[in-house]
Amino acid sequence: MGNEKIKYKGTEIIENLDQLIQKDYFHFELRGLTKSTRDIVNEVVQGILNRVGANPLTSFHLFSGLMEALLNAVKANTRFVIFQDELLNKLTSQGQTPEEEAEELLDIILETEPLRDAMQRYIVPDKIKKVVQKILTLSDKKRSKKHNLSIDEKEFLTIVREKVKKYDLKISMKIEIRPTSVYIRIRNDSPIMGMDLNRIRKSRERHAELAKQGNSAEFFRPDFLDEKESAGFGIAMIDEGFYNLGLDPLECFDIQTSKKTTTVYLNYPLEALQKMEF
Ligand SMILES: Nc1ncnc2c1ncn2[C@@H]1O[C@H](COP(=O)(O)OP(=O)(O)OP(=O)(O)O)[C@@H](O)[C@H]1O
Ligand SMILES: [Mg+2]
Repeated sequence: MGNEKIKYKGTEIIENLDQLIQKDYFHFELRGLTKSTRDIVNEVVQGILNRVGANPLTSFHLFSGLMEALLNAVKANTRFVIFQDELLNKLTSQGQTPEEEAEELLDIILETEPLRDAMQRYIVPDKIKKVVQKILTLSDKKRSKKHNLSIDEKEFLTIVREKVKKYDLKISMKIEIRPTSVYIRIRNDSPIMGMDLNRIRKSRERHAELAKQGNSAEFFRPDFLDEKESAGFGIAMIDEGFYNLGLDPLECFDIQTSKKTTTVYLNYPLEALQKMEF
């Protein structure tokens, strides 16, 4: 009975919240991170944290960490769509390569790490970042219904939606209430590319050094900033949340990536969540 699978969509989750949060295992499928999705995730997570007797202060660290990780997944998937699309455009633009062949070529490039990394440099990351930001802002605007999008903006979003559909990239989030921890696994359908993973590891280690000296927040000082180009703030904020909970993020938070997916593991021991003093 307790293990019975129930499927809910969007606001159905909120309508059935009381009954839902009695479960120990949750599996979400997300396409984006609009305001309403954030609200739903917030309600469920708050429900779970209340159930396990978490201190509201610790809940804050868990929730903001979770949002950073989800936002990274959303951004990475969107970026990957734009990246593949730009690449496909480049491959077909001279009119020499028929579409089908270009798609095959694209597959080969994505499968071959050095090629993929070279392409990442070739297709200006800054341009992609800007496009991704525009997509996220416009999607939020559209959902909030307070703003009217222009015809151009609507058309832009429609084209993006078609592309996202074509590549069918998903985000899955699993949350488990375990006997001694709340365990979260987030997986998205795009890899961490190039040297980014190494940079992230190095940057996390540097943060850990500072934490050892009792000074983890030092990591966010401006003089550290320029060293962190693409091992940015998001992951450091998740780490900082763990430090604030008196936990070692290098033990509780792991990132793995393969050719096609990135997976983030977050583990919050109940003992730390229930702690009342810091
Ligand atoms: N889930 C993920 N899938 C793929 N790549 C990821 C994922 N999470 C992080 N990355 C990569 O790691 C980099 C560092 O992430 P972080 O959140 O620390 O930086 P950021 O400052 O938030 O930058 P960004 O806006 O690119 O997320 C990202 O720029 C991205 O390239
Ligand atoms: Mg980020």
